[in-house]
Amino acid sequence: MKIAMVASECVPYVKVGGLGDAVGGLSKALRALGHEVLVVVPKYSAIDAARWGLHRKVAPLGVWMGDREEWCAAHEAVRDGVSCWFVESEKHFARPGVYHDREFRDFGDNARRFGFLCRAALQLLRARGFAADVVHAHDWPTAAAAAYLKVWHWDDALLGRAASVLTIHNAAHQGVYGAEAYGYLGLQAGNFTPARFEDRGRINLLKGGIAFADALNAVSPTYARETLGPIGGNGLGPYLAARGDRYTGILNGVDYDEWDPSVDQRIPARYSRDDLSGKAECKRELQRRMGLDVDPTIPLVASVCRFVDQKGMDLVAQAIDGILDAMRVQFVVLGSGEKALESFFGALPARWPGRAASWIGYDEDLAHWLEAGADFFLMPSRFEPCGLNQIYSLRYGTPPIARATGGLNDTVEQYDEATGTGTGFKFDALTARAVHDTVGWAVSTFFDRPKHLSRMRLEGMSRDFSWTRTAREYEALYLRARARRA
Ligand code: ADP
Ligand code: GLC
Repeated sequence: MKIAMVASECVPYVKVGGLGDAVGGLSKALRALGHEVLVVVPKYSAIDAARWGLHRKVAPLGVWMGDREEWCAAHEAVRDGVSCWFVESEKHFARPGVYHDREFRDFGDNARRFGFLCRAALQLLRARGFAADVVHAHDWPTAAAAAYLKVWHWDDALLGRAASVLTIHNAAHQGVYGAEAYGYLGLQAGNFTPARFEDRGRINLLKGGIAFADALNAVSPTYARETLGPIGGNGLGPYLAARGDRYTGILNGVDYDEWDPSVDQRIPARYSRDDLSGKAECKRELQRRMGLDVDPTIPLVASVCRFVDQKGMDLVAQAIDGILDAMRVQFVVLGSGEKALESFFGALPARWPGRAASWIGYDEDLAHWLEAGADFFLMPSRFEPCGLNQIYSLRYGTPPIARATGGLNDTVEQYDEATGTGTGFKFDALTARAVHDTVGWAVSTFFDRPKHLSRMRLEGMSRDFSWTRTAREYEALYLRARARRA
């Protein structure tokens, strides 16, 4: 198949969170299965054009928006057989930040920016003669691509046959913006209705995409079910339900070329199931680098995440002093986002010298290092569409301590103290007490049932969440989308 991905992030070029990992990993895996894959993303200022070898290929390209024509250029880079196109528009993308400014304030013109991306992406496919079988959009930023395809390209010789697929990575972000941008978007007045793009007088980009896509999925089976309900769907439940069996759940995969301790060059030592001695070295080096007491006998709990409501780190903030007070344990966190959490975790090491460490910011090398050096990976998410960190941590022999929600529930198998089976420690209650108690359960397993813990590590390391399996499920979804399209 010829598959066009339209997305706001794609590794290794630009990544804010797991969406970037997912788009990059899936594209590469689909290519390896023999499909022709073309990805279109914005050329943000943050993309290092020299490092990734971007070449300017198309210039200039006129893009008809609803009320004016705008211009863009396009650059290309090829990696692992996947061609990635970067839409260049000074006005829309030449600024620091992907979705928001340094103060985490959403850009006010996001509807226009990403609407333009979608429209330009389809124009680009035409300019390149890429007769896509499938146009695959991701989350609110590119959801409108499904609508543009129907509204503008239904009678195209080139794109008229293309089916659209929309993947929901996070239903909490829907791209809701003021109605004044609607004319610019050019999605036609008749589509500004509550069943499509209208949301109480405003534009809801994700909702519009849900109405138009030929097939849809969420990034895990549990999250797909959760989004059908009133809480998980953040108001979109009925619209998703209306799409019936066109909506499913497909668990994300992991790129084990990037995230496997036996090949990972970002960590101090390599290791595998057969020989875990490198993991001990990673722990020692991590303790040293982060100013923790260097001691192999004390369990080390780590977290890496964006500090946003979704991740539940406020519960960790409430629980952590009690945990450090009551248990022989160390804690290390890497993250950035909400200011209150940044200052809380930033100040934690001073209160707990040698026992707690933090790095406030974004650091990919350190993210790998925490996966490798820690004994447990803490992820108390309020909700989690899929979650990649816990899947990485399984491969790094670092059992997750996770809330049983969304993809966390689908990827972590509960530890059974009677038999020693399982790959992690799950809890249900969304409380600081539950975080405390479940960390306590993991810590007591470390000290009292070391054989169980070794077994859990090995079990987790042997689980296979590679993209190849996931890519096959997307293949099937694409075929269904095409069948329904016809
Ligand atoms: P989400 O997409 O909701 O942020 P995921 O678990 O799917 O959650 O993916 C998060 C990705 O972002 C992981 O690859 C993780 O390592 C990375 N990440 C999150 N915060 C940081 C950070 N502060 N520094 C480096 N990487 C980070
Ligand atoms: C979103 C979700 C996360 C998921 C990622 C990739 O950012 O928050 O759970 O893993 O997308 O699909």
